[in-house]
Amino acid sequence: MNTFDFTTIRRDFPALQQQVYGRPLIYLDSAATAQKPQCVTDTVNDMHRRLNANIHRAVHYLATQCTERYEQARETVRRFIHARATQEVVFTSGTTAAINLLAFSFGERWVGVDDEIIVTEAEHHSNIVPWQLLCERKGARLKVVPVDDAGRLQTNVLATLISEKTRLLCITHISNVLGVVNPVREIVRLAHTHGVPTLVDGAQGVVHQPVDVQEMDCDFYVFSGHKLYAPTGIGVLYGKEKQLEQLPPWQGGGDMIASVSFDKTTFAELPLKFEAGTANYIGACGLASAIDYLASIPLAAAHRYEQELAAYAMRQLSTIEGLQIYGEAAPKTGVVSFTIAGVHPLDAAAILDKSGIAVRTGHLCAEPLMRRFGVQGMLRVSPAFYNTPVEIDTLVVALKTAKKMLKA
Ligand code: ALA
Repeated sequence: MNTFDFTTIRRDFPALQQQVYGRPLIYLDSAATAQKPQCVTDTVNDMHRRLNANIHRAVHYLATQCTERYEQARETVRRFIHARATQEVVFTSGTTAAINLLAFSFGERWVGVDDEIIVTEAEHHSNIVPWQLLCERKGARLKVVPVDDAGRLQTNVLATLISEKTRLLCITHISNVLGVVNPVREIVRLAHTHGVPTLVDGAQGVVHQPVDVQEMDCDFYVFSGHKLYAPTGIGVLYGKEKQLEQLPPWQGGGDMIASVSFDKTTFAELPLKFEAGTANYIGACGLASAIDYLASIPLAAAHRYEQELAAYAMRQLSTIEGLQIYGEAAPKTGVVSFTIAGVHPLDAAAILDKSGIAVRTGHLCAEPLMRRFGVQGMLRVSPAFYNTPVEIDTLVVALKTAKKMLKA
């Protein structure tokens, strides 16, 4: 493993210092939500206690301060994902909200009867269901790119699925089940050669990879704050300005208007056109604080370390007889999902929990992928840069014990 200093990093995360059931917490569920560094909770607390007023409305001191910090947070996000302009950064409540916004707005503008939306078999429900709802509303069709046994997207099949009816290609950057890093840049290029715009679900991707949306050239990129060490309830829809400009607003009210009359309402410029109601400005500042934190640590080393930790977990877990890992294709990072023959994932997770080890179980919000691999559910460990190889070793020992107990 590289020399990433996880000991110092761990001190920044108060939640990792606690015990559960009298055991030191081993938190291996960061793909569901990451723990927060102290600086993020300090920002959120300070704003709630001292610096709170609604943004973009009043002219008093607190309102001005909050508005400035909110717009600075947008600039921080812009820099982090290398967007061209802040107009391209829309704050939402999370990845799911961003995709639903797009499914409505893009769908209203561009999708009609018999049109097609392409998704992949590796998508989270959040990048399937909004498109299914759109297809039902419009009489359009959903097409699905399969994954192979190692969890790789079958890009050769994708090429055959694209037709003159394809309106959008929706792909995950890194699957929350398989952890396989998809070659999004090549896929975007392929889609663009057919004139098809692309949406990349970056909920896991933005956590484990540097993201440059201009280099990736995707038309839309979405992610959540809470998986990126920021508070819950804040997320981002990035869209190329020329794409967002052509889309109608989704929700009405609040900041999204330019002028309202009973004859005709006009809408705000980007990005506010898509930010109806009181924005989660404290969440946005918390997200900026998380991004500032990531800028203060050796992030490239942290990303490498996470990949090594996932590889280490795969090697160690493989010593358990009957254990099957899903998504063995490289490059892989962030999550390791598996089943153990004869052991129900929920039972194993309940036993791990009593040892202070937090993992995720069930369909992992990806039922089509469960069906693809012929299972009802999996166990998933999702290490972050604050986890350690010793925690993985403890997990493996606890799993071996759980297996013995459950098969006895
Ligand atoms: N999308 C989150 C996960 O994969 C909740 O666990």
